[in-house]
Amino acid sequence: MPYTVRNLTDFSTEALDSAVSELLSGLEQESAAVGSENDWKAFRDRWIARKNGIFTQLNELWLKAAPGPNKRDVGRRVNELKPQIEQAVNATYARLVSGALFKGRSVGRARVPDSAQDSPVPHRDESERLDITLPGIRRPIGAEHPVIKTMNEMIGVFRNLGYSVEEGPEIETDFYNFEALNFPPNHPARDTQDTLFIAGQESRPMRDRLLLRTHTSPVQIRTMQKIKPPVRVVCPGKVHRNDALDATHSPIFHQIEGLAVDTNITFCDLKGTLDHAMKAMFGSSVKTRFYPSFFPFTEPSADVQISCIFCDGKGARDGAPCRNCKASGWIELLGCGMVDPNVYGFVDYDPAKVSGFAFGMGVERIAILKYGVDDIQLFFQGDVRFLEQFL
Ligand code: PHE
Repeated sequence: MPYTVRNLTDFSTEALDSAVSELLSGLEQESAAVGSENDWKAFRDRWIARKNGIFTQLNELWLKAAPGPNKRDVGRRVNELKPQIEQAVNATYARLVSGALFKGRSVGRARVPDSAQDSPVPHRDESERLDITLPGIRRPIGAEHPVIKTMNEMIGVFRNLGYSVEEGPEIETDFYNFEALNFPPNHPARDTQDTLFIAGQESRPMRDRLLLRTHTSPVQIRTMQKIKPPVRVVCPGKVHRNDALDATHSPIFHQIEGLAVDTNITFCDLKGTLDHAMKAMFGSSVKTRFYPSFFPFTEPSADVQISCIFCDGKGARDGAPCRNCKASGWIELLGCGMVDPNVYGFVDYDPAKVSGFAFGMGVERIAILKYGVDDIQLFFQGDVRFLEQFL
């Protein structure tokens, strides 16, 4: 049965989908049936003749018949069909020509019988047909994941300040994750870290027991063991915490750690550096504020807040309290402080001679703010529709 354009009365998405797929399968079947140049001419005229070709009928029977609110949707579909129909007509012709050419010459080593040569009708043995007009298999190019992109942007900001990049292992020892960072065994500050421990380590001394690093701060220790001051490094990486997942928590996430140790580094340097980094990331009108906090490996310690980028720090937007900053005008973004002198004891630095600062920030948190993502899980589900928005 040749295809005929249906009179449409139902313009719902499902009805349109089915009408379009009916048309495309008719197109495909009729294309496959074309075996000679005359067939092809008839095929072409049936589908794209200006007067009463199938495409022209679509304008009458679909587009003009569509009620006002559906016109846009129907119009879009008809527009999409046009190149598809033209492409099918062209591809059918190309197939015909290439079929005739290939049949007339030798294909690989197999001689085609003379009787088939110069025949205008291509051989119709499916298994033999080589359709060089088929499009190739397109491999999507892919793109940087938004978390990696944010990480690289932040690293770029610090590279421009002369920092280099250090990395460390995700499976760490108790020593690097805690002890050398001035969390003594059994100290309650360890409780804040929701650590995932590797099983079966009880026979080892405490400091050698393995765990999944809960922060990138162990890379501070590894770096200071490796190089002498001056130190200026950023340490990006994956970290793990025993957190239940929800819109803002994930048991796996990423951090960027920073460490600067030199002679005469002060809290002013820390403030200036982070203020600059936040402006570079979120725009020059962003303000920062340092709020007293506690980390065992920094003293003094601070949490850094930026002025809310959604309400410009006003706490309200469009007459309603700003949800992003809970109407406070500030968003907490990272932890930092001056390296605690006790830490230098673990890495053989002389606390009387050097001073420094450290900071650590969550990459997903920054990406969520920067790109207005409302659920951290989206970063890890691998849904292409989400990821494509960052191309
Ligand atoms: N490691 C801390 C955390 O994950 C953040 C931090 C890094 C604080 C460096 C101070 C200095 O909570």
